[in-house]
Amino acid sequence: MNARLCWALVFSSSLPGVDGDLCQPCHPAVVQVWSRNGMGRSIQPASALSPGYYYHRRSNRHYRIGNGRIRRHQLSQGQEINVVDKTVEFLIGSGNHAYTPVHRSLAGTWIQSPVSWYRESASWNMSPGFDRPDHLDFRRPITPECLFCHSAYPRAGAEFPRTIDCDRCHGAPSRHLQEPRRGTILNPAALSRSKQLDICLQCHLETASQDFGRFLARTTPQRFLVSAW
Ligand code: HEC
Ligand code: HEC
Ligand code: HEC
Ligand code: HEC
Repeated sequence: MNARLCWALVFSSSLPGVDGDLCQPCHPAVVQVWSRNGMGRSIQPASALSPGYYYHRRSNRHYRIGNGRIRRHQLSQGQEINVVDKTVEFLIGSGNHAYTPVHRSLAGTWIQSPVSWYRESASWNMSPGFDRPDHLDFRRPITPECLFCHSAYPRAGAEFPRTIDCDRCHGAPSRHLQEPRRGTILNPAALSRSKQLDICLQCHLETASQDFGRFLARTTPQRFLVSAW
């Protein structure tokens, strides 16, 4: 894939977006297009939750989603039992295909919701890996690996992860912000083809591609398949 094709792909979809901070004043068009891309909306606020209900037969659990919360119950002789009620903190995923809500455990860790929203059916269903009688329910931590692929580099003092942003492909912008011209920030167009691909393969690991083995051999923190979430 050449860089222009990358660029065309990166900017291929269109849905309402989020802000674009530091680069906005000088690159407004790029920021605007980026904010419509799935990657530019990879983390969403809890307010974007679509209300819904899902009954999971195999684990006999009812899930109700709405008003920034996820509530689970079971039924025994018509009575609700085993009620769990969680406040959603943020969502992982733009919803172009799916998103999964995240809440906090009592110990303060981020936990993945057992149910996710899927665009294909425009409805709630079990999160990947949860469609079984003995699933983890409200106990599956959001790992640093999820966030490595789904958010911007962490910023000191930020309460929540932020949407993937420019730094993830252009590197640290400090020199460019002091000297705003060509040559003071990484432009992937200037890289060799394999280095261009490496930028995307940080997160887009394709099991079928030869690059996968090469990438894994070299990179330890991301030994995860996209399909594993
Ligand atoms: C004060 C204005 C300003 C700001 C702020 C700014 N840029 Fe730029 N940027 C420029 C100018 C001017 C150029 C050169 C454009 C040209 O020559 O056509 C440029 C070029 C670039 C290039 C191409 C570099 C090359 O060598 O080909 C990239 C990539 C880039 N900017 C990314 C960013 C990112 C990411 C941010 C935010 C972190 C940012 N810029 C913020 C003014 C700015
Ligand atoms: C920081 C990790 C990361 C990097 C680096 C990255 N991607 Fe992505 N990409 C993602 C994630 C996560 C999604 C799914 C975002 C969503 O819809 O929530 C995605 C989605 C996409 C999509 C679908 C966009 C849409 O609107 O649905 C395309 C196309 C894409 N990436 C291409 C690329 C290309 C080309 C590169 C390299 C130039 C690249 N990505 C680099 C993580 C990344
Ligand atoms: C190696 C990087 C990587 C890891 C680790 C990873 N993901 Fe993903 N995830 C992606 C990419 C890339 C996509 C987009 C795939 C596509 O469009 O083909 C994606 C897609 C998604 C989507 C659907 C977004 C959309 O609308 O397209 C959700 C939700 C999601 N991942 C959640 C998670 C969760 C939760 C974890 C951790 C348990 C996780 N991911 C771990 C890279 C990763
Ligand atoms: C997923 C990776 C990725 C992300 C994230 C990304 N870019 Fe880029 N950017 C690229 C690639 C690849 C190119 C080279 C495209 C080409 O010329 O073929 C590029 C080129 C550019 C250029 C130079 C365009 C020119 O005239 O040569 C600017 C400016 C730029 N990006 C700004 C931004 C800003 C601002 C953001 C954040 C809003 C951003 N980019 C986020 C991958 C990315």
